[in-house]
Amino acid sequence: MRIARRGLLAGAAAFAAGSMTAATPVRSTPVAAALCETGRTVERHLVAAQRPHRIGGAEGPVVQAWTFGDEALPIVRLRRGDELHAHVENRLDQHISVHWHGIRVPNAMDGVSYLTQPPIRPGDSFDYAFTPPDTGTFFFHTHCNTIEQLGRGLAGVLIVEGDETVPFDAELVCVLRDWRVDEQGRFTPFTSATAAAKAGTFGRLRTVNDQVVPVMDVPAGGDVRVRLLNVDPTRIAELGVEGADAAAIAVDGNGLPPLPLETWRLGPAMRLDLAMRAPGLGEEAVLFDYFAAEPIPLARFRGVGPGIDRGRFDPQPLILSDFPAPDPWTAEKLRLTFQATAVASDLVLPDGQILRYADGMCLSGSTHWAINRQSWPEAGHERLPPALFDLQRGRSYEIELVNATQNQHPIHLHGVTFQVLDPRQGTAGQRADTVLLGPRDRVRIAFVADAPGDWMLHCHVIEHQETGMMGYFRVA
Ligand code: C2O
Ligand code: CU
Ligand code: CU
Repeated sequence: MRIARRGLLAGAAAFAAGSMTAATPVRSTPVAAALCETGRTVERHLVAAQRPHRIGGAEGPVVQAWTFGDEALPIVRLRRGDELHAHVENRLDQHISVHWHGIRVPNAMDGVSYLTQPPIRPGDSFDYAFTPPDTGTFFFHTHCNTIEQLGRGLAGVLIVEGDETVPFDAELVCVLRDWRVDEQGRFTPFTSATAAAKAGTFGRLRTVNDQVVPVMDVPAGGDVRVRLLNVDPTRIAELGVEGADAAAIAVDGNGLPPLPLETWRLGPAMRLDLAMRAPGLGEEAVLFDYFAAEPIPLARFRGVGPGIDRGRFDPQPLILSDFPAPDPWTAEKLRLTFQATAVASDLVLPDGQILRYADGMCLSGSTHWAINRQSWPEAGHERLPPALFDLQRGRSYEIELVNATQNQHPIHLHGVTFQVLDPRQGTAGQRADTVLLGPRDRVRIAFVADAPGDWMLHCHVIEHQETGMMGYFRVA
């Protein structure tokens, strides 16, 4: 979707008024300044319900989507320091709870059914209230039967502004997801035992903002911020832009020194912000996925308007939020090994009760994966297994994530922003909330366990998560 904040609508007005010409590289326009918000509390009503939704384009099928509102992909936009009040109503026939992915919220606001709150039952509602401490590009999704709920579209974008030192000429939000539908728009199975034990179930219809290769207008020659979000439950994309200079400026919302973009591997739940020099008038740049034999076009960016002359492409770093830096000298070292399990074994709790791995309220019916030999047990979230780790509040931890499988796993931790100690994709020391492990890969992450509570830790290939690759750690 195109954002008018300081983008095309506002920009067009400014062009028409003659406040900007091709020869004047004006960085901030009165329009941009006037749109700065002052409100401290942002109220949002999110009503989870089934609604018809046309996907793919004007000719595309209408699906019975599950969404949070009439807008299928709501964007909640805050400024640094704003408090969000989200009133979530459940008009579906199953439990939900809303997780704010990547936001360091208090534990009671983390939205994990049974672990941090009772599920929101059909007909019930829940009020989330928090002030995101960090700026950046985030999203939210439910955390119960996520295979189906995310598969049917139940998600939204959360943007916290205030990290730019130099305003962009426009901004695009590009949400990548596939739809598991047939030609008539009927949903096809979201999972199968064989797929869940491998890479997962892929959608047939690939979309950006629910459109097939949308053409998005950008101010010709201007600098555009492109917020890329992979909210697909399964697909890993290898993103690149042709026809325009682009640099990675943020990963999972966290700024990094601008890094010229070659390609970037974006697993489920991962985000990448780009600074892009928009193509000239009438020219196009194309966002591709190279994770295929033939590159697959995902979106086109078309240069429009009178043209802006910005000189040499020189993306500026974003402002980084305050962050408790992990102390490498005192950090306790831990290891998490992600495994495949042939057969699920029952788990015997200290009190002698046996938890069986099978169907559960929030989970699918089989177990294929484990973390440190422990899979999430049958009773779903209702009867909790022991924590994978007990962490001491205020202490630094260095965790080695070890992938003992042949599959890729985007590993996500709730409640913390971690530092990725080993170089990934041309960066080192990058902050993130999700890190992609390749086959037989290992990577060290570090963070300060500063927020008390029980925090989930799982693979974000949702079929892996819901068939065992999930656990939690306790900070006390
Ligand atoms: Cu997007 Cu438990 O996470
Ligand atoms: Cu999360
Ligand atoms: Cu996985």
